[in-house]
Amino acid sequence: MRLSTRAVILLSYLSLASSQNPLIQDFLSPDTWPPGPGQALVPQAPNAQLTSMLSNISSSNIETIINTLVSFGTRSTLSNQTSRTRGIGAALTYLQSQFNQIASTSGGRMNVTVQSFTQPAGGSFPVATKISNVFATLKGTENSNRVYVVSGHYDSRNSDDSDGVNDAPGADDDGSGVAVSLELARVMAQASLTTPPKATIIFACVAGEEQGLIGSNFMAQQLKTAGIDVQGMLDNDIVGSSTADDGTTDPFNIRMFVQGIPPTELGTSQVADRVGIGAENDSPIRQLGRFVAEVANNVQPVWRPDRFGRGGDHQSFLSAGFPAVRFTEPHENFAHQHQDVRVVNGVQFGDLSEFCDFEFNARVAKVNGAALWSLAQAPGTPKNVRSNTNVQTNNSTLTWTVDPNAASYEIVWRASDLPQWTNVVPVGKVGSATIQLSHDNAQMGVRAVGANGYRSPAGFPFSG
Ligand SMILES: *[C@@H]1O[C@H](CO)[C@@H](O)[C@H](O)[C@H]1NC(C)=O
Ligand SMILES: *[C@@H]1O[C@H](CO)[C@@H](O)[C@H](O)[C@H]1NC(C)=O
Ligand SMILES: *[C@@H]1O[C@H](CO)[C@@H](O)[C@H](O)[C@H]1NC(C)=O
Ligand SMILES: *[C@@H]1O[C@H](CO)[C@@H](O)[C@H](O)[C@H]1NC(C)=O
Ligand SMILES: *[C@@H]1O[C@H](CO)[C@@H](O)[C@H](O)[C@H]1NC(C)=O
Ligand SMILES: [Zn+2]
Repeated sequence: MRLSTRAVILLSYLSLASSQNPLIQDFLSPDTWPPGPGQALVPQAPNAQLTSMLSNISSSNIETIINTLVSFGTRSTLSNQTSRTRGIGAALTYLQSQFNQIASTSGGRMNVTVQSFTQPAGGSFPVATKISNVFATLKGTENSNRVYVVSGHYDSRNSDDSDGVNDAPGADDDGSGVAVSLELARVMAQASLTTPPKATIIFACVAGEEQGLIGSNFMAQQLKTAGIDVQGMLDNDIVGSSTADDGTTDPFNIRMFVQGIPPTELGTSQVADRVGIGAENDSPIRQLGRFVAEVANNVQPVWRPDRFGRGGDHQSFLSAGFPAVRFTEPHENFAHQHQDVRVVNGVQFGDLSEFCDFEFNARVAKVNGAALWSLAQAPGTPKNVRSNTNVQTNNSTLTWTVDPNAASYEIVWRASDLPQWTNVVPVGKVGSATIQLSHDNAQMGVRAVGANGYRSPAGFPFSG
């Protein structure tokens, strides 16, 4: 669709121009420029195992998870931590037991961690408060510390962020995202019995999101301190409703927010290097977004960090230097989030499960599942990718570090103003290759191919 929009705009420009100058007709059609090597890139399609795993994702499980979370009344980070029936402590116990039950089906490949820390008094916290993330880790087979994370926040809020007492059902925000983490843990634990992932996958439910991304920030910093190579984080926050506030529905689209320049580069000389070669749209974050858009249908990439003035747990991972994207339903209904449960002039306010579309939520889980499984089954993104600038040539010579877990490599490229990779050139199991296309005229990347046929996201070359 974007291709043809571009074609229409440029062709109408050309037809206008060519009526003035007939010579201009001799130029190539804009959709075939630049001419370059390789075949048209066919998006990676799910294999039989992935298709079967995705078909096992259950909207009725998602409904049960959300309704159980809502039954705890409030999951405010400031709510009761010891009651077994009401408050965030009851929710934590429930999630931990669900993960434990799932881990027991994994043949020992999955374990469960409750990661707690104390948030000192101050800001929204009248007293020092224990904050707990809970996550399941599905161990990969590769001899590396490569990890992918899928996460939702299990804390909730009503109109008052510091109200730990009154109801805050949090069905959509963010029971829906928690349900994605749990349901993916379930189907992937099962699928890993026959085909374990190459990389490790963490299925997370974090707390303290509504008080400033506190839980996810702790988790991301722990991973960074431990030197874990987090190559992708998928944040699901408000992914449970397909209905806009005017009543129209959009059940086949999910927004994916994808930042351009990594926040860790801002204020450093890396920004000048990136902008200097036109790589603003080729950060590891954009490559992750491009990969998700390639392997999963229904995704609407939005090239900005988040909605205007809003944020989420993906930002904690971005701040730790990890690529991360955020999924959010296509049209939010603001009467149903961050609102006390009440009726005003006949209008029901509050984040109630009656406003959820569990089939939509399951579709979002499938998008995440296709992306996460494809990432974890593929080799990692190639590292130290460089494009030689020592000699002036119309060819491009790319180099990268060879990964023993990759069977071969491919150079991918696209015209610099297109969103997705369009061409692919297989180059074998090498650490350097030259293609007949100038890096001045196209965006290029290197992706690794596994013996199982799965392809990694592309690594983009800097000058070198
Ligand atoms: C899907 O679920 C069925 C029934 O539980 C199971 O037999 C099958 O192995 C599952 N498929 C995958 C890929 O997990
Ligand atoms: C939490 O709930 C339990 C059980 O109802 C109650 O005994 C306890 O006092 C509550 N704690 C706080 C801090 O309100
Ligand atoms: C869970 O497994 C991971 C990966 O093998 C390991 O690093 C971690 O220490 C384990 N955690 C627990 C709580 O057993
Ligand atoms: C670049 O390509 C053009 C057209 O094929 C050719 O005329 C020119 O000599 C080439 N330059 C170099 C440095 O190879
Ligand atoms: C450019 O690449 C082509 C194909 O690999 C090769 O035949 C040609 O000699 C190269 N030219 C230069 C100047 O490196
Ligand atoms: Zn949220």
